[in-house]
Amino acid sequence: MSRIDELIAAMTVDEKIGQLVMVSLGAETIVTGPGAAHEPSVEEVREGRIGSVLNLVGRDRIRALQRIAVEESRLGIPLLFGLDVVHGYFTDAPVPLGETAAFRPDLWEATARLAAEEACDEAIALTFAPMIDLARDPRWGRIVEGPGEDAHVGSVFARAKVRGFQGPDLAHPQALAATAKHFAAYGAVTAGRDYASVDVSERTLHEVYLPAFAAAVDEGCAAIMPAFVDLAGRPMSGDRGYLTDLVRRRWGFEGIYVSDYDAVGELVAHGVAADMAEAAARALDAGMDLDMMSPAYPKALKPALERGLVAMTALDAAVARVLRLKERLGLFEAPHARGAATSPRPRPRPERRALVRAVAAASLTLLANRDRVLPLATTGGPIALIGPFATTAEEMIGPWSGLGDQEITVTLAEGIAAAFPDRRITVTAGVAGEGDDGSGIAAAVAAAEAAEVVLLAIGEPARLSGEAASRARPGLTGRQADLARAVLATGKPVVVLLACGRPLTEAWLYEQAAATLVLWYPGSEGGNAVGDVLSGRANPSGRLPVSWPVDIGQIPVFYGERPTGRPFDPNEHFTTRYVDMPNAPLFPFGHGLSYTEFALSDPTVAAATFRAGETVTVSTELANTGSVAGATTVFLFLTDPVASTSRPLLELKRFETVELAAGAKRRLDFTLATADFACLGADLVARAEPGAFWLSVGFSADRKALKTVAVRLEAEPALV
Ligand code: BGC
Repeated sequence: MSRIDELIAAMTVDEKIGQLVMVSLGAETIVTGPGAAHEPSVEEVREGRIGSVLNLVGRDRIRALQRIAVEESRLGIPLLFGLDVVHGYFTDAPVPLGETAAFRPDLWEATARLAAEEACDEAIALTFAPMIDLARDPRWGRIVEGPGEDAHVGSVFARAKVRGFQGPDLAHPQALAATAKHFAAYGAVTAGRDYASVDVSERTLHEVYLPAFAAAVDEGCAAIMPAFVDLAGRPMSGDRGYLTDLVRRRWGFEGIYVSDYDAVGELVAHGVAADMAEAAARALDAGMDLDMMSPAYPKALKPALERGLVAMTALDAAVARVLRLKERLGLFEAPHARGAATSPRPRPRPERRALVRAVAAASLTLLANRDRVLPLATTGGPIALIGPFATTAEEMIGPWSGLGDQEITVTLAEGIAAAFPDRRITVTAGVAGEGDDGSGIAAAVAAAEAAEVVLLAIGEPARLSGEAASRARPGLTGRQADLARAVLATGKPVVVLLACGRPLTEAWLYEQAAATLVLWYPGSEGGNAVGDVLSGRANPSGRLPVSWPVDIGQIPVFYGERPTGRPFDPNEHFTTRYVDMPNAPLFPFGHGLSYTEFALSDPTVAAATFRAGETVTVSTELANTGSVAGATTVFLFLTDPVASTSRPLLELKRFETVELAAGAKRRLDFTLATADFACLGADLVARAEPGAFWLSVGFSADRKALKTVAVRLEAEPALV
């Protein structure tokens, strides 16, 4: 018998249920959800009633609790310790949406590895990341946690993160089990309101929201967290069709499902379970393994089994999966391997700081740069750094920064001062990020008037971004717009440094400012990275992973629209349009400026036709035609002008970020498999349909600026 079979044979029902219970335990834990209905105690660990713990931090405390589980519980089964290590543990990289803007899968992987090393050294074994919910609605605060609007980007991001967190061997003491979350389509909550119902078509689910999860599973992610929400009336946390039939059976997922916080118990509120016992039974039957923080499994699974609502075999199967993950993590052999270091709490090492600084610099996204106001000369007149985020650490590390250390976070004021040692810099808040106190605006105007150039550090307070932070008006908060107007009125060139977790709809500001640099929330080294870009030491190369709306009224606006029978025609009234604003976003997906210029040649293909099973290679030459070195991202889109179902006008198939010296050129080859041409038929089965396809290369999803080549998939000769 295997160890797992032996354990299951030896376990009482209470001990089995215990293996499925995940609670937060410990006095000063991080709080990531509503108050616990279940009050856990260390005694329950001893009794084998708790198998996993979240939000307990500090390796000594974790190791002490692990010792109780291993040495004092009847079967000595180790605990699994989980935490939201989202974009860092101590040393924070940019928030995921910002990091996506770098379009650098190698960096996405490297920062996950860094986070895993720091978290594992603090005795954590499981992270609730990567969050790979695509989002096309910036009203939803959690857009900050994910990779933006595109399914291909989401899939590449998911793979890079799973690889980075887990490494090649889960048993390694610095391997962190990854959780792909939140399965699925959580980013499509109604009207962008967090936790609200989701209703997207099966087609959109399969085309847009599922691919990143399928990629994570294919990459071997250890866990999946089903979303809180229902999908067209089917709450994901209790849905056997999705969790077991689709993901386990069809995709071959072998890891565990960990519920979202209280989501199993919330099946009652969803109206699909009459009481906790029904909720527990439904979730277990669906395939949910760990119940995080709800009373359902700990209090009501036993009565559910006794009432015959769910079979004991389902319990055993879930327990086996959880034990299997603990085994793969090496917890039975070496329960204290993670966190074994005896050194005092590590200070971020220089190479870690260098990595997150480089990633932050690569993620900063330059939306506009009139008259080439940026980069700023390192000598010259005074610089006025104005705005509520000039000196705050929160708006550098963002809303879900783990234990991101604010003390070691470099603020804008610090980073900019370091980048411009020979220029006088004044720092004035002007207003706070929230509230209606405008009394500091006059001082800010005076500071602007005394300066040669203004750096305006404004945006969205980190507190208003993230979970439970939906905003009906995603724009500047408090009196920041008044501050911006007053400073702009001085006539000084104003460079907006926009800290935000989502596109902020302030078109007037981006039109009037001399330049706008989106910082996102850039992480522990944010201030230095901004200094690098402002001074030209780094050339900005961030590209928008989401379309940036002109106005709230356009939401959702995304590049992957389907064609309409009445495409927009300015000369024809009865075409698709708003009468009061443009259809196009203010800045398209992929937009971002550089201090140099790039050009692409017309793409070519080796052969104009191909057959099923063959590959197609699209080639183009990228040239840096400007006068400084820089990096840009080249996107390859596919269009299928005629298919059995109407396909989006553009589908991203590949992207590559390339660094080139001034004047240098490089040939890029993108190879596509037949499957890359496939679409879902009316039956939702993927097929590559014969006919013409257009392959377009460009620097963004602005269709007017793309360069296109056509290829044809030949029909198979008829069998005679
Ligand atoms: C969030 C999850 C998170 C969990 C545990 C929930 O509120 O939705 O993303 O992993 O808390 O902290």
